[in-house]
Amino acid sequence: MPELAELNPLEFAALAGLVREHTGIAMHEHKRVLLQGRLLPRMRSLGLARYRDYIERVRADRTELQPFINLVTTNDTAFFRTPAVWDYLERDFLPAWLAANPGCTLRIWSAAAASGEEAYSMAMLCSEFQERHRGFRFAIQATDIDTGVLATAAEGYYEGRSAERFGASRPDLVRKYFRSEGEGIRAIPELRAVVRFGEHQLLAPWRQGAQFDLVLLRNVLIYFDEATQERVLHSVRAAMAPQARLILGEQESITRIATPFDFEQTHVYRIRQGQS
Ligand SMILES: C[S@@+](CC[C@H](N)C(=O)[O-])C[C@H]1O[C@@H](n2cnc3c(N)ncnc32)[C@H](O)[C@@H]1O
Repeated sequence: MPELAELNPLEFAALAGLVREHTGIAMHEHKRVLLQGRLLPRMRSLGLARYRDYIERVRADRTELQPFINLVTTNDTAFFRTPAVWDYLERDFLPAWLAANPGCTLRIWSAAAASGEEAYSMAMLCSEFQERHRGFRFAIQATDIDTGVLATAAEGYYEGRSAERFGASRPDLVRKYFRSEGEGIRAIPELRAVVRFGEHQLLAPWRQGAQFDLVLLRNVLIYFDEATQERVLHSVRAAMAPQARLILGEQESITRIATPFDFEQTHVYRIRQGQS
């Protein structure tokens, strides 16, 4: 098959339009080479030599949509990413929530969970807290639009940089909650059992059950334009209990856009009073 030419501006615009339509992600021109690099192997495996043929395939063939979505998302993550957030959850949020809600189950949503490191970090934090507070109960729902990373997450198997960094920073937790397997580590069944993974598109409303007390929506809003950020935040808000907290990523500030949230402290937001 001949070498593929660079994506031309029209092809890039068509692909960026499909990315926006199906994920909400705003892909700007400087991502052209990145997009090219991600799509090429897929096009080769489909035997397609021209970008316009691939664009047609995505438009016409519903079965190509999910592989396309999986290719265009960026799934960087880490165990206990942004330590200040985990300090806040351990020292402030969990004790205060338990004191205010004895006998209840804390419902947590990791809303752009990627390969699951965030959800398992939450599961370890809650399990440790539970050892010190026997009445504490929790349930973690983790979702993403990318079915490829969700499969990794459900397996709970990590190797390479993610496992190495975690092992170096929290060897105690790795020993307690993971087992060595092959080149990497796998979460023990007890840890996997407390996290439920599922597919969810953040542009759509959450319709699956009771409201959440804590939502981790970290490092995903940065990929959206402001109108999409507002839309996502309103639908996330509808899935939250009145006293719930929302946690955003380090580079995400929502103070300039119209949302139903008030800033509480760095990374932490609460539902604005009077918002139903
Ligand atoms: C950079 S990762 C963030 C992972 C984790 N929250 C963290 O902070 O480490 C962003 C994730 O958002 C997901 N994502 C992007 N657009 C989405 C959408 N419209 N709905 C649901 N998930 C989306 C991607 O698939 C990706 O796994």
